[in-house]
Amino acid sequence: MKVLAIYGSPRKEGNTSLMLDAAISEFPETAEIHKVYLCDLNFSGCGPCRECKVTGNCVIEDDMQQVFQKMLWAEIIVFGSPSQFSDVSVSIKQLMERTWWMKGQLKNKIGGYVVSGRRYMESTLNTLHAFMLRHRMILGGSGALGFTFTEMGSLDYDPLAIRDAHNTGRRLVELYDFIYSGKK
Ligand SMILES: Cc1cc2nc3c(=O)[nH]c(=O)nc-3n(C[C@H](O)[C@H](O)[C@H](O)COP(=O)(O)O)c2cc1C
Repeated sequence: MKVLAIYGSPRKEGNTSLMLDAAISEFPETAEIHKVYLCDLNFSGCGPCRECKVTGNCVIEDDMQQVFQKMLWAEIIVFGSPSQFSDVSVSIKQLMERTWWMKGQLKNKIGGYVVSGRRYMESTLNTLHAFMLRHRMILGGSGALGFTFTEMGSLDYDPLAIRDAHNTGRRLVELYDFIYSGKK
């Protein structure tokens, strides 16, 4: 089982990371898990070049190139995003834009997410769902939303957040088993 966990909050040890850690803790010991903290990387969103239309690859030479390799390698991709101004974080959005060239290459990978925020989170979910559906990924998980306020540790106000994150991890494992070994 090859898992890529993409941490999309500007705060490395914030609410979103706690939830994503809880989700991936459900993967079996044999799972190979790569964690990517977008806040540690240097990259931009999509630019004006349209070079990928000609070359079939993204030609921007920045840290996103290593993330592309991990995305292509993974069988399961799990995103963690805070809701920021009613959408995914800027870094997750930039990553999404940069995958424009990958058309078809993420097909049938299992995708999941955890999101932390407090209100207007619908469009955050919509962006995550649209990304996975447009890439023909298999949308998994169980919709883990953590109700937080702005300060660190405020996840404690939502007793269901971490539980739901674990459920998302479990569901991704279940879906993986179902698809890869026909286990129900
Ligand atoms: C710039 C900014 C915009 C935000 N916008 C929203 C929002 O639209 N909806 C929401 O529920 N929370 C919003 N929040 C709150 C964060 O989503 C919330 O604090 C989240 O748990 C932060 O995750 P973190 O601890 O991983 O950084 C915003 C926070 C910031 C910094």
